Amino acid sequence: MGTLTSRGEIDPSKGVIITCLGKKRSGKSKMALLWFESYPYDRVVIDVNGTDGPHRGVIELRGTVDELPTRWPEHLREDGKRMTLRYHPDAGSPTFVEDVDAVLGMAYRTGRVCVLLHEVGLIARANRTPPHMLRILQSNRHRQLTVLLCCPRPHTVDPLVLGQSDLVYVFELPNPADRKRVAEEIGWDPADFAAGVDELGPHEYLRADTNESRPVDGETEMRLVSCPALPADVVAQLDRL
Ligand SMILES: Nc1ncnc2c1ncn2[C@@H]1O[C@H](COP(=O)(O)OP(=O)(O)O)[C@@H](O)[C@H]1O
Ligand SMILES: [Mg+2]
Repeated sequence: MGTLTSRGEIDPSKGVIITCLGKKRSGKSKMALLWFESYPYDRVVIDVNGTDGPHRGVIELRGTVDELPTRWPEHLREDGKRMTLRYHPDAGSPTFVEDVDAVLGMAYRTGRVCVLLHEVGLIARANRTPPHMLRILQSNRHRQLTVLLCCPRPHTVDPLVLGQSDLVYVFELPNPADRKRVAEEIGWDPADFAAGVDELGPHEYLRADTNESRPVDGETEMRLVSCPALPADVVAQLDRL
């Protein structure tokens, strides 16, 4: 396993899928927010719990699948400024998954936006991934979509989520089935991967870059690297968003 360098950086106009995994409060959403903040174009955040940011400077989307806009609400744009939409779905809605999928569909039609989905496990369950979520996972790049996904239990999520991810951040992940699934999907030896996860201190993480290739002739290992926790001042800044 390697150690952190500056790789893992991304061209926002290309469209990438970044997945953050780990138990509750391990730091997934903070990492996703860090990426979200660095994204220069229009953005949409879907926050099932209603507690994750950003909360400031956002335009709230409301309603269910039949009421949500199908196109980006351009009429709400203030003098050419970048827009951030926020959707807090009703977890009790009988059409909950379709509600979220409607927002994903709008993002897909729009193209070149960043989508942050704080709980992908509730939307893309194995064999039950709704159509727009599937489209995004299969062809985000054609639409220049950058997709940030958070998930506490990778074992129960559609394998396509990990299979299509460019970067996977792994925070504290105690469940063996979860570890095994991640190792399988990123093509890493399960025992070696589990040992790497075990060594993580609070909020530390492993970063898997699925676009990196096996190192040759003394090159540094970049496919899976162990990284220090985000600095406290960065986290404090993200807490205020
Ligand atoms: N270095 C750090 N990285 C991430 N979170 C940190 C760090 N230090 C402290 N925290 C705190 O830990 C919590 C992590 O929360 P969050 O990212 O929302 O977790 P998750 O999305 O995995 O449930 C936050 O309250 C955050 O302020
Ligand atoms: Mg979270």
